[in-house]
Formats: sequence, C-alpha cells, structure tokens
Amino acid sequence: MSENTQELIRQLHAIVGDAGLVTDAEAQAPYLKDWLGKWQGRVAVVVRPADTAQTAEVVRLCHLTHTPIVTQGGNTGMSGGATPDDSGAQVILSTTRMNRVREVDPINNTMTVDAGVILAHAQEAARGAGRYFPLSLGAEGSCTVGGNLATNAGGIAVLRFGNMRELALGLEVVLPDGRIWNGLRGLRKDNTGYDLRDLFIGSEGTLGVITGAVLKLFSQPHARATAWVGADSPAQLADLLARTRARCGDRLVAFEMMSAASLALVLQHVTDTRAPLARATPYNALIELADTEDLGLQAMLEEVLGQALEDETISDAMFCTSGTQAAALWKIREGISQAQVRAGKVIKHDIALPISAIAGFVAQAEALIADCGLAAQIINFGHLGDGNLHFNVMIPLSSTYEDVKQATLLLNRLVHDLVTDLQGSISAEHGVGQLRRDELQHYKSPLEMELMLRIKQAFDPNLIMNPGKLL
Ligand code: FAD
Ligand code: MLT
Ligand code: ZN
Repeated sequence: MSENTQELIRQLHAIVGDAGLVTDAEAQAPYLKDWLGKWQGRVAVVVRPADTAQTAEVVRLCHLTHTPIVTQGGNTGMSGGATPDDSGAQVILSTTRMNRVREVDPINNTMTVDAGVILAHAQEAARGAGRYFPLSLGAEGSCTVGGNLATNAGGIAVLRFGNMRELALGLEVVLPDGRIWNGLRGLRKDNTGYDLRDLFIGSEGTLGVITGAVLKLFSQPHARATAWVGADSPAQLADLLARTRARCGDRLVAFEMMSAASLALVLQHVTDTRAPLARATPYNALIELADTEDLGLQAMLEEVLGQALEDETISDAMFCTSGTQAAALWKIREGISQAQVRAGKVIKHDIALPISAIAGFVAQAEALIADCGLAAQIINFGHLGDGNLHFNVMIPLSSTYEDVKQATLLLNRLVHDLVTDLQGSISAEHGVGQLRRDELQHYKSPLEMELMLRIKQAFDPNLIMNPGKLL
C-alpha cells in the first residue's frame, strides 16, 4: 500500500472511526462484487460514514486528494454501477450505516429518510404510521432508498404509482466538493428554477452522494385481488392490459408478463414453486388490483378476465382466494432474476417501448435472434404495464468470458437497433452503470451527450464521482 493511501486511510479514520472503515480483505469482499457476479473490483478502502456530516467530510477529503468515489447502497444494482474498477485507487462509500427514518408526517403524507434505509424498512415505517410507500421490487429486502433514487428504480407498481422519480419530493445531497445541498422539501409545487432534485435522481452516483430524501406516502391498500393468466402471445396480453385498465382504472396496480421459458426457469431453479396453471401457455401474466377498501375487487377482476376467456383473448386464468396463494404467485415472478443467475450466463436488455409496439418488437427480435447463429434462449419477462421488458438472452453456463463478450456485442446491436427503430429506450429501470455505457454513447444523440457531459463537468469538475459509469 502506497504512503498516500496509508495517509488517506489515516485521515478517513479520523472522520469515521473504527466502525466506519473496512480494510480487511475478507470483510471487503461483498462490496467488491455485484449481485449478478458479473463485475469485480479492488479498492483502497471501504468507508461507511454514520451520517450526512461525516459523508460531507469524507467527500471533501476525497475532493482534496482527487480520490475517486464509488457510492454503494445495498449493492443489488444490475448494471455494475456500484462496483469499483480494478485499479485499487477508488474508495467505496457505503451508505448502509445511514439508516434512520428521520420523520413520518401523516398530515403532509410524506416520510423523510436517510439514503441508506433499506426499501423494505421504509415500507414498514410507512405502514406503521397507517400509510403506504408503494415502490416494490424483488431486491426490496436489501436495496436502499439512495440506490433506488440513484437508479430511478421502477419495479412492480410503477403502472399505478410511478417510478422513484415520481415518489420523491426532496433530496439532501453531498456534492463532489463536500458541500451539502439541503433540498429536503416536502412540496408538491415548487417552481423556483431548474429542478436540481431531478438531476440527481437517476444520476447513478456520478453527481453527488444522496444522503436523505423526502418520499411521498399513499393510503394503505386494504383489499387486493390477484390472478394468473395464460395467453398465446404478448399481443393478447397487451389487449388484456388495455381492457383491464379501462375497466378498473387506478385499481390496477400490477400487470407483469412472463414467457413460458421464464416460468419454466423458475420452476426448475427456485424451491417451493409450482406451475399456477394445469397446462403451460406461451405467455403468462400476473395481474393485481388493489383498493383502500373492498368494493368488489375480485368480482371486477373476474368480470374482465371472464370476458377475455369467453372471446379467447386469453386461454386460462387462476384467481387467488388467499394472500398465501397470491404470495406464491409473486414468488414465481420475483424468482426469475435468481433463476437466471443459476441457469446460465445472461445478456440483459432492460428496454422500454410504447406498449402498442411490444408485440411487434417481440416477434421481430425473436426472429433475429433465431437467425443469429447463437445457442441462445430468450428469457422475456417484465413490467408490461409500463412497457418495460427484460428481454434477456441466456447462453450456456459453460460460456467463456470471450463467448459472453462476443454474444453481448452481437445481441445488443440486434436488440437495441430494433428498440431504437421503434422509438424505445435501451435503459428502462436498472440504470446505465458500466453495462450500458458504450451503448448509451452509441444511441444518444451527440447533442444529448454533450449536454450531459456539461452537467457532469459543472457538478464534478475533478471527475471523482463514480468514474467509468454512465458517461
Ligand atoms: P446499489 O446497487 O448499491 O447502487 C446502484 C447505483 O446507485 C450505483 O451507480 C451507485 O453508485 C448508486 N448509488 C447507490 N446509493 C447511492 C446514493 N446514496 N447516492 C448516490 N448514488 C448512489 N430494479 C428496478 O428498477 N426494478 C425491479 O423490478 C428490480 N428488480 C430487482 C430484482 C432483484 C432480485 C435485484 C437483485 C435487483 C433488482 N433491481 C430492480 C435492480 C435495482 O436497481 C436495485 O435493486 C436498486 O434500485 C438499487 O439499490 P441499491 O441500494 O442496491 O443500489
Ligand atoms: C425484475 O423485474 O425482476 C428485474 O428488474 C429484472 C431482471 O433480473 O432483469
Ligand atoms: Zn424489472
């Protein structure tokens, strides 16, 4: 370890103490590898400040010493945004000790939390105050509110409540020079110039460290109706989505799609799961309605799906009669990510399209991939209600690093060209990180890239915040 690094660690220790430094190689290991096991890095040290003031001091020290910072929350990101490079020169700033719910304000219907609060704990705090915080995703037991904000996370309730950008009213951010921007305003109207909050949301740790947030709360949904549907194609499910929305309005909170291959993967690799329908169908949907009180939700869902069965828009449906049954269906849906990791090497495409373009996209993309000469299996699933597909492609577990690299180059071009032709986005909810950085360069217009680079320069002239990610 160089003398400069030793001196940096000594000064960091003076700020955060023993509890705030991870120097031991074994203890550092979980911070250095991402959830998918795709990226691995090295660092000088992992620093875990206890609060905003300590974070500001740490960042100021890194600013003065030109030390690059990789901010990390729950380390569940899917784009390599929280993994350091392998130079050993970067430091990881972990927010996980900043885990206080600062205030719940039921009158303003808001909650103010530290950025390191685990999403599930934020949900519990809202519930404890008789309110509801709707962001929900498979990693909610370990991802943090700061990571959700930094990636503008989506998940399974965006259709009704919006993504993280729409759920945050205010932020507190430590800027790259160590100053603290206090934007913790719980306001629904605030037209006082450029919206700095919206710049930090989705910035993936490249503009500053988010240390706190004011989040919107909602009424608790006391009634739910859940069903699993089998259909022949995404076109049929898109049709069903439109009808369900027209009939049920805002009561429709989730409409998730899974191909037969996605379902089969879960049944094979996730314990205690079983097929919801007697006969396998090419496509499946998990649909949920919710309301503050039960004014006949189940009957409404049965009516919509009954009609769809009658006119053969769908081929089968299973209605849940208990919360336990619904939980079993959600276990299947949320098991897909884990099942993919167990089954093969996955080339991920996190794309967004107009919902009306999805059926056409799937047909064309399937044909292109069938013709591309790879031994590949498409694992197509996602948040159909948001027009967001995880159009993932799996190649054998035995594939070498070089195989994965070549397949990724080939498949990205096929899939992302098609998405771009259809006016879609190559990055819907997981962020750009290091996974899609080159793709962003390829598809964003030079003007958009120039504007983003100028924003980066204005906030972070020494380029110490998460270098190599996003831009
Ligand atoms: P990390 O992984 O630690 O970091 C992610 C990025 O945010 C990095 O660039 C990091 O530098 C930055 N960052 C983290 N904290 C801060 C901060 N305080 N200030 C500034 N920058 C910060 N995502 C969805 O949108 N929808 C899903 O349905 C979904 N499902 C998932 C299911 C599973 C099983 C898993 C493992 C992940 C899933 N994700 C999903 C990915 C998702 O992006 C993350 O789970 C979550 O939003 C990231 O939070 P985190 O705290 O783990 O962030
Ligand atoms: C999900 O929706 O389950 C995750 O965002 C997807 C993934 O693993 O690609
Ligand atoms: Zn998702």
